[in-house]
Amino acid sequence: MSSSVQLSGPADWWRQAVVYQIYPRSFSDSNADGIGDLKGIISKADYLSSLSIDAVWLSPFYPSALADGGYDVADYRDVDPRIGTLEQFDDLVEAMHQRGIRIFVDIVPNHSSDQHIWFQQALRSPRGSAERARYIFRDGRGVDGELPPSDLSSHFGPEGWTRTPDGQWYLHLFTKEQPDFDWSNPEVREDFLKTLKFWSDRGVDGFRIDVAHALIKDLDPLPSRSSYDLEVMKDDGSDPLFDRDEVHEVYKTWRKLFNEYDPPRVAVAEAWVHPHRRPPYASLDGLGQAFNFDLLTAKWEARTFRQVIDKNLQFAQQTGSSTTWVMSNHDVIRHVTRLVIPAGKDGVTFADENNWYVKNRLDPKLDLEKGLARAKAATLTMLALPGSSYLYQGEELGLPDVLDIPSEQMQDPQWFRGEGKFKSRDGCRVPLPWEPSGSSFGFGAGGSHLPQPSWFGEYSVVVQEQQPESTLSLYRRALALRKQLQGEEVLNWLESPQGTMAFERPGSWVCFTNFSDEPVAIPAGEVLVSSAPVTAGLLPANSAVWLRRN
Ligand code: GLC
Ligand code: CA
Repeated sequence: MSSSVQLSGPADWWRQAVVYQIYPRSFSDSNADGIGDLKGIISKADYLSSLSIDAVWLSPFYPSALADGGYDVADYRDVDPRIGTLEQFDDLVEAMHQRGIRIFVDIVPNHSSDQHIWFQQALRSPRGSAERARYIFRDGRGVDGELPPSDLSSHFGPEGWTRTPDGQWYLHLFTKEQPDFDWSNPEVREDFLKTLKFWSDRGVDGFRIDVAHALIKDLDPLPSRSSYDLEVMKDDGSDPLFDRDEVHEVYKTWRKLFNEYDPPRVAVAEAWVHPHRRPPYASLDGLGQAFNFDLLTAKWEARTFRQVIDKNLQFAQQTGSSTTWVMSNHDVIRHVTRLVIPAGKDGVTFADENNWYVKNRLDPKLDLEKGLARAKAATLTMLALPGSSYLYQGEELGLPDVLDIPSEQMQDPQWFRGEGKFKSRDGCRVPLPWEPSGSSFGFGAGGSHLPQPSWFGEYSVVVQEQQPESTLSLYRRALALRKQLQGEEVLNWLESPQGTMAFERPGSWVCFTNFSDEPVAIPAGEVLVSSAPVTAGLLPANSAVWLRRN
């Protein structure tokens, strides 16, 4: 057990928590090597505290060859030496806990890195060996096994099987450097329990579970697939690759482990499944929560937002869990930009057939002023909803996506493997601007592992801290207020004019959102905070306001 301060408190602290996602390599760099690190995060502990968040979630910081931004984990129970040490991790937990901030780490159970010792052993071991049985190795088709075992593409484009020097093939749903584990193997199951215990014992409060719906696969016959669109995934538990009912047995064993801690460790599933299949992931005898990405994919429109909210509050009721809201994360275009990209799927995971992203990324002509107005309004609306909210580093600065990163400086395998079909996720992973000028805008004393645009300084923390009307000031005010006002997980809809949406958190506050391009009159009440100035009782276009009813 590490010496970190343990945080006690109610077992249900997570139900309406605000969790701030840190992408460690891009947050703050303490030693001028251009890569964000744990000491950098510790140096910003007071900044994190100033946001009144309840927890931080760290994307992977484990040893990794960075074939997929760290989601290719070479050792689940260590820290990448470029990012820090286990001792520094303990210091980070302590720094957070001292400030009442809890900590989530990211668990990547579907696949490891090809640098993981188990995969290295598998490569050196013969066909049919116990070492290969931890992954999915198969013989190929064709006269000499020269054809892949099945017609499977990966998430990031072409092949989902890669051949090893001795002629066998292994399956990978993501890059070839991310071999999939075989979860029917008890050794794999035991090893992940060991990892969860390792971090729980170090004081970690919660886990974000990567691709939580893919672990269990039906490999007889070997699955074929060429598209990862949700429409292709079966929605009744019979899909050979995703969302099989048996996956919940794994999470029940995890839950038993989580409940051995006081307070119990918590977890949130990243599962891009059909919405009606989400509840079991959030079940209280399973992981306990599941991401709901429906607002993130929703059109900027009152009716759509209201439907999404209703549906997800119903799901939450079915499981006894609370829902989760997300507007941005490390995989999608930042919401300032996304909310003014013409409708379609471009802004989220994949490009559509018109491929807006590829065609427009160097010359987008987007109305980012409107994008920022909508983003602030969307966030203020989200923060008024019952359930927990997940924020992504830099959204509190109103950062737009960086769309013009030169191709040769991109890192995202989705871009390189996608053959022009997929967007790059690098644009939301550019290191944060802390200061208006200087090398890497205060990210560190050196460079920055992804190029920062010249306009980044205007968005910096130092600049925004001096402006009461900045996005940062809005986030701080709203987050602090939310903490004070937060009550029961209940929402009542209020009548409101066309193009607007209004709801009340009984006994505490009203949120009124104007999705339209015209100003509208706000309901009676005292203005607590608004995403744009209310004048003469009018809320500007694309804005939201919190009110206390008189
Ligand atoms: C999840 C992560 C994403 C990663 C993928 C493979 O979707 O959020 O960043 O590329 O899993 O691990
Ligand atoms: Ca560094």
